[in-house]
Parts: sequence; structure tokens; C-alpha cells
Amino acid sequence: MTSITIFDDESMLIHSLVQLFKTKAKEKLKKKSCFTVALSGGKTPIPFFEALAKEKGILWDKVYLFFVDERYVPSNDQKNNGLLVKRHLIDHIKIPMKNVFYIDTSLAIKNSVLDYEKKLRSFFKKKKISFDFTLLGLGTDGHIASIFTKAAALKKEPVLITQKKEETFKRISLSLFLINQSKNIIFLVTGQEKREILRKLLVQKNKNLAASYVSCKGMQFFLDQSAAQFLLK
Ligand code: 6PG
Repeated sequence: MTSITIFDDESMLIHSLVQLFKTKAKEKLKKKSCFTVALSGGKTPIPFFEALAKEKGILWDKVYLFFVDERYVPSNDQKNNGLLVKRHLIDHIKIPMKNVFYIDTSLAIKNSVLDYEKKLRSFFKKKKISFDFTLLGLGTDGHIASIFTKAAALKKEPVLITQKKEETFKRISLSLFLINQSKNIIFLVTGQEKREILRKLLVQKNKNLAASYVSCKGMQFFLDQSAAQFLLK
């Protein structure tokens, strides 16, 4: 079931998203010993990462952190998603380094993909690779993760190599096949610049958008008013 929540402003949205993260972690850790998270990069989630880093009562030693995608650039490059999450979240929480599974871009790209697939498989073992909490952004062209086309959205491999037309670097991305196995997917979309793509996705239901192939039982859209203009009655 997909739910859409529109918040008056970004700060209320971020507060609610932190509480959702905490609630989902608490629920899962009542039954199991690990809470698995897959995070997207980009600018939008930075306030969420920063607020989450300050939140008390999260058992970070039981949280296992993966990345939805990575730009195939060195780990110290400003465009690297792992570096972005490290700077705004990981460096400020007591999460054991063994609980963080970076996509290793120091390897040849095909080996980087194999290495990440190995990390996923050895963590999830024989169980289905299914994250408890997957955070997605939305590109103004309707991409999610680093999946830019409908064709890429329909691929069945677990981890893909992709490239955005206008970018010189390649990207490594979980496939939608894997992302859609998540127990909870949260789209975090804010700001006026996302207004039109949200209209195409949620009002027009445009099937040419990679984002329109995201689907799981626990899917939620966290939107602020300026992004959700076309959805307001
Ligand atoms: C990335 C992200 C990507 C992002 C969207 C939105 O690596 O860029 O995974 O999917 O979520 O491009 O990016 P902004 O939040 O910067 O608008």
C-alpha cells in the first residue's frame, strides 16, 4: 500500500522521517538482531542524515547500512555518495565499521559490482536480499537510485552498471529488482524543482519514468508542500 504524506515544511518532514526510521528499527529489533538500511545519495537526504545523527535511542550497533547506488568516482571525491553519508551521518554515530557496506570504487568497475554483490550475499546469506528501510530520492528526470531508463528499471540482475547521459563517470546501482524486495521504501522528495516530475509520476502515472517501476508493500512518499503542489487539492 502506497501512502503519500505532505508536510508543511522540510523540518516537519525530516522530524517525521527520523521518527519513522526509529519506529521501524524498534519494531524490527524486537524480533531480530539487525535492522538493514539502504540509503540514496544526492542533496535531498542531507538534512535527514544530520537529524538522524543527532537522534537518541537508536541502537546503531544493530543497524547495517548499505548504499542504494554509488557514482564510480574515488571514495574521496565530492560526488561519492559513501563520502556524503560518511560526512553527514556515519562520522557522527556509534555504528561499528563492520556494519557499513560501502561500494568499493577503488576496484575495476566490474569487480566493484562483484564485490558489492558478494557483500550483500554474505550478509543476507540464504535469505532474500530485503532491506528493512530503503531511502530513495527522485531525479527531475524521474530517475531513482542510478536507474535512468525504463529498460534499466526492468533489469533483473542484483547490481547494475549505469551512466547518466550528461555525466562522464559511470554509476553502480542496486537494481529495482532488488530495491523492490525492500520491506519499506521511502521516497524523500522536497523542493519546487521536483514539482513537475512528481506530477508526472503521481498524477500522470507516466510509465516512461524509471521511478514508476518502484513498488513494494510498504511504500511511502514523504513530500514537502513545495514539491507536492500538484497533489494539493
Ligand atoms: C544519486 C542518488 C539519486 C538521487 C536523485 C535526487 O546518487 O544521485 O542516488 O538517485 O536520489 O538524483 O538527487 P537530489 O536529492 O540531489 O535532488
